[in-house]
Amino acid sequence: MIDTPTRRAVLGAGVFAAGSMLTIDRGFAEAPLAATPACHDGDEATVSQTEGPYFKPSSPERVELLETGMAGQPIELVGFVLTRACKPLAGALLDFWQADDKGRYDNSGFRLRGHQFTDAEGRYRLRSVVPGVYPGRTRHIHVKVQPRDGRVLTTQLYFPGEAKNRSDGLFRKDLLMRTAKNEGWLAGRFDFVIG
Ligand SMILES: [Fe+2]
Repeated sequence: MIDTPTRRAVLGAGVFAAGSMLTIDRGFAEAPLAATPACHDGDEATVSQTEGPYFKPSSPERVELLETGMAGQPIELVGFVLTRACKPLAGALLDFWQADDKGRYDNSGFRLRGHQFTDAEGRYRLRSVVPGVYPGRTRHIHVKVQPRDGRVLTTQLYFPGEAKNRSDGLFRKDLLMRTAKNEGWLAGRFDFVIG
């Protein structure tokens, strides 16, 4: 294990230690996942995946996709955008879109769609609901990640322990987020590595 600045940042002021960044009004508390860095120098870049039919440009800038009265299990997904040398990328764009609890996309508006930028430490934070499944697909969240002046990475994130992961031809193990169940909500972690 190499003690890189990234590793120190993760251990010292890691995503999950930053309790002050979390709100409690929607039942979120400090995420309990260990702040283990998922970064090693020379890591493989995060693989790209098809955008699928439901991307819409010009999503609103927001980290909170969860709306009052929205059905489904709340999820807080956090992580870093890193280079292959574990350097955190500040100001990287992340544009998320996903189905609702029933597996439906909002194609007329921007429900469950939003973009944000990583902070000075290269961290992002998304609050949403766990997406439902729809015919042919296992549970997934779509995302585009673009470093400042960099190319766009389009990919999808998957949930561990889903029976449909085995039957979805797009599913990839290396795009699994790590999750931990909490009272009423799910904590998720995924670090993007930009090649
Ligand atoms: Fe999808």
